Amino acid sequence: MGTFASNKLLCFGALARLARCTADKCVSFGAGLSIPDTKVIAYSHETNGTVLPLPGTVASCGGPNLTAIITADLCRVVLVVATSSSSETSGFRDWGIGGCVDYPTMQNGAGLGFASFGMNAGHNGSTGFDFFLDKPEVLNDFGYRSLHFEASVGKQVVEQYYASSSFKNYYAGCSTGGRQGFQNAHLYPSDFDGLLLGSPGVNWLRIVASKGILAHRIGWPDLDSPAYVRPEQWPAIVAEQIRQLDPLDGVADGIIDEPTRHRFDPQTLACGAGLLNETLCLTPQQVSSVRKAYEPVYDSDTHIVYPAFELGANTNVFSDNQQNGVAKLSYTILQDFWRGAVYNDSTWAPENFSTADMDFALAENPGQVNAWDTDLSEFHERGGKVISYHGRSDETVTSALSEWFYSGVQSNTNLTLEETQAFYRLFFIPGMHHCGGGPGAWSIGNAQRYPYDQTLLDSSYNALLALVDWVEKNRTPETLIGTKYQDDVVGGEVVSQRGKKYPPYVSILLYMLIVT
Ligand SMILES: *[C@@H]1O[C@H](CO)[C@@H](O)[C@H](O)[C@H]1NC(C)=O
Ligand SMILES: *[C@@H]1O[C@H](CO)[C@@H](O)[C@H](O)[C@H]1NC(C)=O
Ligand SMILES: *[C@@H]1O[C@H](CO)[C@@H](O)[C@H](O)[C@H]1NC(C)=O
Ligand SMILES: *[C@@H]1O[C@H](CO)[C@@H](O)[C@H](O)[C@H]1NC(C)=O
Ligand SMILES: *[C@@H]1O[C@H](CO)[C@@H](O)[C@H](O)[C@H]1NC(C)=O
Ligand SMILES: *[C@@H]1O[C@H](CO)[C@@H](O)[C@H](O)[C@H]1NC(C)=O
Ligand SMILES: *[C@@H]1O[C@H](CO)[C@@H](O)[C@H](O)[C@H]1NC(C)=O
Repeated sequence: MGTFASNKLLCFGALARLARCTADKCVSFGAGLSIPDTKVIAYSHETNGTVLPLPGTVASCGGPNLTAIITADLCRVVLVVATSSSSETSGFRDWGIGGCVDYPTMQNGAGLGFASFGMNAGHNGSTGFDFFLDKPEVLNDFGYRSLHFEASVGKQVVEQYYASSSFKNYYAGCSTGGRQGFQNAHLYPSDFDGLLLGSPGVNWLRIVASKGILAHRIGWPDLDSPAYVRPEQWPAIVAEQIRQLDPLDGVADGIIDEPTRHRFDPQTLACGAGLLNETLCLTPQQVSSVRKAYEPVYDSDTHIVYPAFELGANTNVFSDNQQNGVAKLSYTILQDFWRGAVYNDSTWAPENFSTADMDFALAENPGQVNAWDTDLSEFHERGGKVISYHGRSDETVTSALSEWFYSGVQSNTNLTLEETQAFYRLFFIPGMHHCGGGPGAWSIGNAQRYPYDQTLLDSSYNALLALVDWVEKNRTPETLIGTKYQDDVVGGEVVSQRGKKYPPYVSILLYMLIVT
């Protein structure tokens, strides 16, 4: 299961042309660094190849023995930034519910010669709720604020280091990092020149709520209910979706290229229909459950508020919700966030989760986390560029959400499709899971994945470099070529490559709802 990862990269272009970092310069720089509301915790000169221990990293961020590989001679600085009188965000150091520093992305950035920053979004850890319980300022950091502080402090660090302020600023993030990037473009449009935003978790509360709502649609938590679809049935259901729908894109490769363009009728898997044997076939109640599982999410007024689960995607969200026969939601972020941030109740559990719980959270919108800020007009007017990408087999944030967001930006900025495409490109990656992985040719220099393939450091294959070329050379990224590696080891043996120019996404969405 994917978790929401907070991934921040702030890169300042053109650094390679500037003074190289020497040990002496690093030490004198660290000693003299002075930024308001910011404490310098440590600084050191590190050489390429050093394996750096990261003590103090919490378990959900890969601790306690996490290390990072230094990929260039660099000056490392650890900062703590006070974002309010009662919260702070640690920079450069510490990678869920997005409280982990994204070292992989930072390492990639440093390897390319960028000054790279990462931060913990104001709390340490990707699981748990204590860090949010009764801490509204920590929630604000996570919700919308920490990235802005990272940008602002990062710029000051670089200006002091290079005694210059003419840099291009980039950000790369995935999942909640993608959400924070879009939110940042709306709230603080002058922070960055280019944004690389993967599998963005915009509409965050509904994404998380959908896990509870979908679980209920298939009979959970009553594992004995006749409507409950058993874990062992799900692989057969998905296999049948792929068998029926994959060939419609012209090539039978086990990947449904455009799942939002298809419908799947679970009646074909009913007992007696002949496709599944008596162990796996669906009873009439289960047919109804599966049908509901692939409907969009509605609010209490029956408005569609979140798109349907992806056909062909991994179904752990349906199948993993029990432990030894006891109902337990596998997507722990739901319980954590509603405990810590929504209900301020450390005993709340999601077994009775309903639309009302979702709507309540939306009304509260703790930390303004549920960003759906599609007015990017100021960012656009300043010349900002966005490359966004989303896997078409994303089991965590359904990729249709990116279609919705794209349409929203277009209508909210009053731009034509051509004008929108001139600053914001959305690439769908067939067969990619949440942020990376999956059967498709998914490697495009994804945020959160270290290392890059050093032989494909080119804007045709690497989305960060494509973004830099767009911002600095006005070279529009018409296509991105994805690479599939043997055993998904990036940089290893190339199995296949695929490049696709995606049709523009315009504003008509059609849903066929089959009510049973
Ligand atoms: C996060 O962890 C770092 C050490 O890794 C520590 O310095 C900092 O105080 C922690 N922050 C919080 C909010 O616990
Ligand atoms: C971390 O390293 C210590 C010391 O080598 C070791 O005892 C411990 O088992 C390690 N912990 C994990 C989770 O790997
Ligand atoms: C770091 O070292 C590796 C291995 O020697 C080398 O391939 C790479 O180019 C070096 N990186 C930089 C930025 O010098
Ligand atoms: C039903 O089909 C599954 C998957 O093909 C198979 O593993 C299982 O043994 C079959 N069960 C029976 C009773 O035929
Ligand atoms: C959260 O719960 C704690 C303990 O029950 C209580 O002291 C605190 O006032 C509550 N905070 C809010 C914002 O309701
Ligand atoms: C769910 O609702 C039932 C019936 O009202 C109640 O007995 C149970 O305690 C509730 N469970 C949770 C986790 O709130
Ligand atoms: C878009 O047009 C509407 C209606 O004319 C207007 O109210 C709105 O302010 C415009 N938005 C922008 C970002 O220009």
